[in-house]
Amino acid sequence: MSTPPDAALEIVAQAIPNDERVWVPQAPSVWFRPLMLNTVNGGWCNLLRVRKAGVLSRHRHPAPVHGYVIKGSWRYLEHDWVAMAGSYVFEPPGETHTLVVDNDVEEMITFFNISGAMIYLDANDRQIGYEDVFTKIDMCRRHYAAVGLGEDYLQQFIR
Ligand SMILES: [Fe+2]
Repeated sequence: MSTPPDAALEIVAQAIPNDERVWVPQAPSVWFRPLMLNTVNGGWCNLLRVRKAGVLSRHRHPAPVHGYVIKGSWRYLEHDWVAMAGSYVFEPPGETHTLVVDNDVEEMITFFNISGAMIYLDANDRQIGYEDVFTKIDMCRRHYAAVGLGEDYLQQFIR
């Protein structure tokens, strides 16, 4: 069977880019690399890269997240497991957890497929931030314009 004419275009990208500018700064020593920004289902696939130790964020997922650790390791304060290079992680809807990278990890890189949104919380469960595919698109667009790749560089990752 041939591909229907209305099917979305495929994406094939070198996930860990040669061009450092493709990494979008998220926070000091934290970056993400967009791979697929899904405006139809509401979600996104990206790599998260962290080059610092400590707590990164406390957050809640209203929808499922799938992760695959490519390099380094990380854990959630609420669980007793450590996600190591090669680990697959499923984060069920409703989870609130606190992401930590330990001191002995120089760099962690993890692929995440995030549905819906990230809801950032303080220690008392008050919302202090929110991200969805559209806030991610905004961040990418501003960054790629600023570093000279151009706003349209992002277009290849949006469906
Ligand atoms: Fe999470």
